[in-house]
Amino acid sequence: MKSRILTALEPEQESSLVARLGGLRDVDLVRRCPDLADLVAASAAGLADVAIVSASLRGLDRDALAQVRADGVQIVGLSVTEHDERRLRQFGIAQIVAADCTTEELDRALRAHVRPAVPADPEAGWAALEAGLDPREAELALTPPADVADDNGEGVNVGSGRIVAIWGPTGSPGRTTIATNLAAELTLQGHTVLLIDADTYAASVGQHLGLLDEAPGIAAAARAAELGTLDLPVLARLAPTVDPGFRVLTGLPSAARWPEVRADSLSHTLTLARSLVDITVIDCGFCLEDDEDLSYDTRAPRRNAATLTALTAADDIIAVGSGDPVGLQRLVRALADLEAAVGTAPTVIVNRVRSSVAGMSPERAIAETLERFASVRVDHIVPDDRAALDRSLLAGRLLHDVAPKSPARNRIRTIANELAKAPVNEALSAPVRFDLRRGFRRWSTA
Ligand SMILES: Nc1ncnc2c1ncn2[C@@H]1O[C@H](COP(=O)(O)OP(=O)(O)OP(=O)(O)O)[C@@H](O)[C@H]1O
Ligand SMILES: [Mg+2]
Repeated sequence: MKSRILTALEPEQESSLVARLGGLRDVDLVRRCPDLADLVAASAAGLADVAIVSASLRGLDRDALAQVRADGVQIVGLSVTEHDERRLRQFGIAQIVAADCTTEELDRALRAHVRPAVPADPEAGWAALEAGLDPREAELALTPPADVADDNGEGVNVGSGRIVAIWGPTGSPGRTTIATNLAAELTLQGHTVLLIDADTYAASVGQHLGLLDEAPGIAAAARAAELGTLDLPVLARLAPTVDPGFRVLTGLPSAARWPEVRADSLSHTLTLARSLVDITVIDCGFCLEDDEDLSYDTRAPRRNAATLTALTAADDIIAVGSGDPVGLQRLVRALADLEAAVGTAPTVIVNRVRSSVAGMSPERAIAETLERFASVRVDHIVPDDRAALDRSLLAGRLLHDVAPKSPARNRIRTIANELAKAPVNEALSAPVRFDLRRGFRRWSTA
């Protein structure tokens, strides 16, 4: 059977490539797409098996390529320069041919299309850095060493980083407080950490850390991922070190900018983060609704894609609830939603626990009530510690810095200790794939 081919090429490459395609027996050129929109539409119409796409095609980005792939069309990239080739690899395109390739080389690339595309090698940038090269100028297929140094000279375990998502229901239960302080405690324990503010409703990590002049790191990373320019050195530049070993990717300055953080881009960022640091801590938004349920347009950007992507990619999920009657009820309902969305039980923290609303022995009362009436096991309690948290917010510095002996800090430090020691949650460590049609799925390796 002939392979049905689409092309979406720069005008100066088109005629000669089409002539070479004409010399191949097993291919059928079904459409010459004049632009990216036409390529996406032709793929959606099921016209083709393979698309040959110029690296410099106007508007080419990760989102459009993901749509083409979601329609079952494999992509072969056409490059003119080395920069083109690197960009195509950052997009996860494995089959790349030079614009001046021979007919035989083109034939080989098209025959190989049945092999699945591999993601860009995230470790290669570090290998290049170590060799004293500009990673963008280096050959990205280098095999990485097991251990390299980051730009602070600190050790990084390449590719083995863990992802921890901090999530919780609406009502400000303290997600950002837990995420920021947990990240800092993990750093103090000697781990390299990247804190990502992925709350597309109310980003506030920058404020908690006193980063007044903040650039929206997550938007910049998402944009670079979309354009195929996000590699490890670029991510390291966008996520500056605020304390030794502690990097931060700040959130969106305005909730209206949520469409900038697409699932595929964040997913690529998280893959790279596993190579950049030991532990990535993500401050997630509260909402788990999947916009796909509300719309027939499965390709529209999704408001909660950032949270769902983070939760799906995470090795550990920590759910934070507030220790008052309203907060606890929300937590119980939200845990059911979480189970439905990602199919797993998280570590549960009840925060802001105080006797004025939960009675004498509030810790025991909350743990027993949740266990008995909702079958929810509370893993950690963080006390209400207004004085310490106010001091922290006022100074824009974290608890270990402004209130090192405070009760809240002590508990969060214990949680960090246990988290770092605990094995990765095996239920969450199965590979995850995002399918535009079917949403997020965790693949069992069994
Ligand atoms: N253990 C605690 N004791 C006292 N105050 C706390 C505690 N934890 C958090 N807070 C306070 O509660 C408020 C909300 O905290 P935070 O911003 O961390 O919540 P959030 O869940 O991230 O909210 P948002 O919906 O804005 O993302 C802040 O003023 C914070 O200082
Ligand atoms: Mg928050």
